[in-house]
Amino acid sequence: MPSFLTFPEHFLWGAATAAYQIEGAWQADGKGESIWDRFAHTPGKTRNGDTGDVACDHYHRWPDDIRLMQSLGLRAYRFSIAWTRILPQGRGAINQAGLDFYSRLVDGLLAAGIEPGVTLYHWDLPQALQDQGGWANRDTAAAFVEYADVVSRRLGDRVKLWITHNEPAVVAWLGHSNGEHAPGINDVATAAAVSHHLLLSHGWAMPVLRQNSPDAQAGITLNINWTAPASRSAADLDFARNVDGRWVRWFLDPLYGRQYPADITADLEAEGAFPHGVLSFVQPGDYVAIATPTDFLGVNYYNRVIVRSQAVTEADNLPPTLIPAPRDLDHWSEMGWETYPDGLFATLARVAFEYQAPRIYITENGASYADGPDADGRVHDARRLAYVRQHLTAAWRAIQMGVPLAGYFAWSLLDNFEWAHGYAQRFGLTWVNYETQERIVKDSGLWYGQAARAGGFAPA
Ligand code: FCB
Repeated sequence: MPSFLTFPEHFLWGAATAAYQIEGAWQADGKGESIWDRFAHTPGKTRNGDTGDVACDHYHRWPDDIRLMQSLGLRAYRFSIAWTRILPQGRGAINQAGLDFYSRLVDGLLAAGIEPGVTLYHWDLPQALQDQGGWANRDTAAAFVEYADVVSRRLGDRVKLWITHNEPAVVAWLGHSNGEHAPGINDVATAAAVSHHLLLSHGWAMPVLRQNSPDAQAGITLNINWTAPASRSAADLDFARNVDGRWVRWFLDPLYGRQYPADITADLEAEGAFPHGVLSFVQPGDYVAIATPTDFLGVNYYNRVIVRSQAVTEADNLPPTLIPAPRDLDHWSEMGWETYPDGLFATLARVAFEYQAPRIYITENGASYADGPDADGRVHDARRLAYVRQHLTAAWRAIQMGVPLAGYFAWSLLDNFEWAHGYAQRFGLTWVNYETQERIVKDSGLWYGQAARAGGFAPA
């Protein structure tokens, strides 16, 4: 390996956030209620009852946050739009103040030389649409297209990077099948219909984005971690097939023209996911719409998941061959996620060569560690720094192998509201004091900014 890893000239060195996790100001200037407002305000749903009511107060502090990005030398910033700021009731009346907010943000970023990347849906559905069935209702896909149209008509002249959805698998399975996320539903049939309507809304929105933002790139972001069977036993192999299939192939396959994978369709059927007939929610033309070509695939990668089937028979019960890294914080983040940079390399190869994604962005990658300021006032988050360096090294290797990787967005610019975990998990390159809203760039952020400026770094 060379002593300095040089990245392509136009590589986007960025950081990412999401509206509900950082903005706060949940009722400001005409904003409507979202399902995450409702969920977090429901006792028992989030750790400590934490909510995004204030979060990082980014809604008011965005000029400072742009200055912070500029001081780091970031070239790009991925953020999401709160649907409820634009259309407080989900569809119909437009709230100009909401559009103005994002328009100012985009102008501020461009003036600072930072490329804005917009995610349209990072999980905060208008509650008014949830009251009509949410994503289980096919009509919500039509509402999403109206929303995408309103936003891209206003911002499409300046925003050149559009992401329709963030992690539809998490929305479908965690939001509707195990209830850990908003709207907190536990029903596999609902979750399956939701997954289809999310994908459909993506496909339907693509031509709208192209029309309103003609020289932009548009795509979707999936969460793709690395799933591996603990042993070569038939039971473990089958379990790994199932887990990877429902989290990854169920989404990638239809997006790349292969329709839903037959094995996972059968698994879901056995779980009762299709009470009205197998895949009854698929209508003529849907598969073509979902497979509308995109300019890129966004990949969120965090960790490896080693799976061990509960259903092993005695004959099948081979000892594990995959041994996870030692259970310490150097190898596992505070989320309990195993650090495994080779999985990023393998994932990038998979989507580039198996699905032939024309271009790839790593739209999220990062690690949760609680490190706060030391006596010297600095945040010495050596483990996060190592994590980011190792994963960027894996990304560099993938580029050498021919993967069309065009950018990396660290998760996250700021410590923020980590969904059901509340404020307990800190993923930021920047430490946030939630009492005072003070920001302190961590060592990992300083290191990353240096790499962004230099267009590369020396590997460990
Ligand atoms: C991803 C989400 C992001 C953040 C990270 C840690 O699944 O897209 O909002 O919560 O995990």
